[in-house]
Parts: sequence; C-alpha cells; structure tokens
Amino acid sequence: MTTARDPRLDAYWMPFTANRQFKQAPRQLVRAEGMHYWTDDGRQVLDGVAGLWCVNAGHGRPRIVRAIQEQAAELDYAPPFQMGHPKAFELAGRLAELAPAGLDRVFFTNSGSESVETALKIALAWQRLRGQGSRTRLIGRERGYHGVNFGGMSVGGIVGNRKMFGTLLGGVDHLRHTHDPARNAFTVGQPAHGAELADDLERLVALHDASTIAAVIVEPVAGSTGVLIPPQGYLQRLREICDRHGIVLIFDEVITGFGRTGQPFAAQTYGVTPDIITTAKGVTNGCVPMGAVFVRRGIHDDFMQGPEHLIEFAHGYTYSAHPLACAAGLATLDTYAEEGLLTRAAALEGQFAEALHGLRGLPHVIDIRNTGLVGGIELASRPGDPGRRAFDVFLDCFAQGVLIRTTGDTIALSPPLIISPEQIGRLVEAIATALRRVA
Ligand SMILES: Cc1ncc(COP(=O)(O)O)c(C=O)c1O
Repeated sequence: MTTARDPRLDAYWMPFTANRQFKQAPRQLVRAEGMHYWTDDGRQVLDGVAGLWCVNAGHGRPRIVRAIQEQAAELDYAPPFQMGHPKAFELAGRLAELAPAGLDRVFFTNSGSESVETALKIALAWQRLRGQGSRTRLIGRERGYHGVNFGGMSVGGIVGNRKMFGTLLGGVDHLRHTHDPARNAFTVGQPAHGAELADDLERLVALHDASTIAAVIVEPVAGSTGVLIPPQGYLQRLREICDRHGIVLIFDEVITGFGRTGQPFAAQTYGVTPDIITTAKGVTNGCVPMGAVFVRRGIHDDFMQGPEHLIEFAHGYTYSAHPLACAAGLATLDTYAEEGLLTRAAALEGQFAEALHGLRGLPHVIDIRNTGLVGGIELASRPGDPGRRAFDVFLDCFAQGVLIRTTGDTIALSPPLIISPEQIGRLVEAIATALRRVA
C-alpha cells in the first residue's frame, strides 16, 4: 500500500538512508528507555543495535541524563584552544586508565570520522617529527570503514562510500580483507584461517618501501562492512610487521571500544596493543557527540618540543572536549563501572553465540559470525538485487517490534550491553520469523 507522502518530511536530507523509501513509510522514534525505543504510533521496539553501535549502557540512563542537564546549566561551553575546563582533564585521565597500557594520552573529537582524521594526522606528523618525513603513505584495508571524511574514506575500502568522490587522498594502498567464507563460514568466535593475510603488509612494504609508509589503520572487528572477525593470529602478525618496519599501527575502535567485545577495548580482548586507538560512540553512550583518540605516550611526548609558547600540534575542533560531552562521558564511565558493563559482553558471549548460530539452516543464511556482543548473519543475495533481502528482513523485524541493522545482505547485531538473556532470545526469534517469511 502506498500512502500520500508527507511534505513536512521533505527538507531533511537523511544520511545513509534510502530517503524516498523512508519518506513513503517513515519509521520515527520518539522516546527511548533501557533496551527499548517507542515509535510515534506508540509501538515498543527492542533495540538490537544500541542505536548505531553506541548506546552501550542502554537508553535514558538517569545518571547520564542528570549530568548533561546539570552541565548545561553550569558551564555550557568553554573554548578548547588555549583554555581548559576541569572535566576535560578528568575525563581524559579516566579514559587513560581504561586504555591498554601505554596509550594514556587522549585527544578529543566529535565523531568517529574526526577521530580517524586526527589519528592519521598524528601518525603523519609524528613520522616527520622523528626525522622520517618521507613516510607519507597510509595503508587501509579492503572493506574497511573509517567514517566519511576524506582521510577515512581514502583508507576505507567500501566501494559505495568511495566511488562518487573523486581521487581521494593520494599515496594510499589497501591490504586485502579477511572475509573467507569458503574456509571460515559459521565459525563461532575468531576464524581459524587467514592470519597469513596480514603478510599483505610485507607485500606492500616490498612494493612501496617501508621508508614511504607512515601508518596502517584497521578495525579489529570490521563492523560496517558486515561484521568480519579477525582471524586467529592476524592482528598479532600485523603488529609484528609494523614493528619490524617502523609503521604506526592504528586500531579503529569506534564500534569495538567500550565493552563491545568483552573488554573495554578490542586491543585487550585480542591481546594486541596498537600505537593509536580511535573511538567515539560509546564514550558518551551516544548521548552527546564525542570522539577520543588514544595515543601512545612516546608519540605524544615527541610532539612536546620546541619553544613552550608555541602550539605543538596544529589540529583541533571548536567542540573538542565540549563540556556537555565531558559530563556525559564521566557519567557514562561511572555507569559502565557500577554495572560491570565493559566486561559483560564476555559473560554473555556464549549464550549470544548459541542463539545466533541457532539460525543456521534457516532460509537464505550462508554464514554467521560473532564476537562479544557483535553478530553478523550473512544472507544469500537475491540475484541482481543485492541488499534487498536483508532490507526486507529489517523491515519485517521492525514491524515485529525489533530494531536490527543491515549492511549489504548481512544483518549486523550489536545490542546494548545491558541486554537480558530473554531479550537475546526475542531478538534472534524475530530474525528467524522474518527469514521464514521473506522471499
Ligand atoms: C570503525 C568506524 N570508524 C569510524 C566511524 C565513523 O564514525 P562517525 O559516524 O561517528 O563519524 C564508524 C561509524 O560507524 C565506524 O564504525
């Protein structure tokens, strides 16, 4: 059934959205609490994706709400250039305590995309500061997602996000992605095959020479491309090759940061420490835009040279360390700590995996992948119509009162870390019902 389109929806050009489809049949959320949203027509919707991989402590947490309200009344804004406010320093200190050992210097941004640009710029500038100015090349990975700005888009590897936007940054190359369904389909946890794909970096070193390469950036778990879990030993091998050749290793933890994989950071879950970690989303529980870049102390300290009255790193944003974001961040960390949320995914992982892998054998399912509280269910594409089948599952689930996310023909799940075992069951059951119904 098609209904008349509401002209009040016309002005808003929605991001990463099928605008015309949406405006024919809008899906409007008007309230949220705990594990649920409510729609404008009064339906309750179970949140299977933590908003957009960000509301890790669930919605409407009173401590966070209060902190934002009080902060707005007390100090609405403070310039971050040449001035400070106490909560910025307090939050950076608290975050540094959570980070892998040594990554205890924190630069604030407003989004994952900005965190990525910041990390790439730190890596380039640091190489130059240490007398390695010929290292200007950046290496990403096929299927990687590092946000939508020019640096992140260039090192990213999702063709649909790149092809419309010209030549992007020069001097960028890509590792192969690690998705290998022929050998790894339906693996529970980390796949056994594919560590050798990290050797692609050696191949690129042989091609370009290490003296031209500044940094490598990868998502420990690739999310937006459809949940790709790192093969056993892959990240370790990447670390070794970077060490051997003086290359900065950046983990983009915008979705894996703040408890998603069972530890505060995926670097800790997988036991590999990069030189820089980019984060956003869960740092404020998604309540106020904020990103945080964690930098190895030695890299930071190398910037602290020259006349002391001069700016050491010509970079920053008007809203870096915004007081509302800092207040939300501190209250978020308190909430995570009080409820043990940053390690709760580890406790639930077995049950989540079991529920998810129970979908094996249902129509269209060609692979299931999981780690912590992240799940990917890959469907066979309809011939000539990629992405449509998963989108139909998304619409069906929404009609059932369950919010999931799809990318291509993969369903990506990342529920708030407060999810109950019963709610895991409901989430997966809704997907099973939809899979039985869609063509
Ligand atoms: C790994 C990764 N990096 C960067 C980003 C971009 O973050 P934002 O949308 O906050 O700019 C995302 C967003 O999903 C992401 O998953």
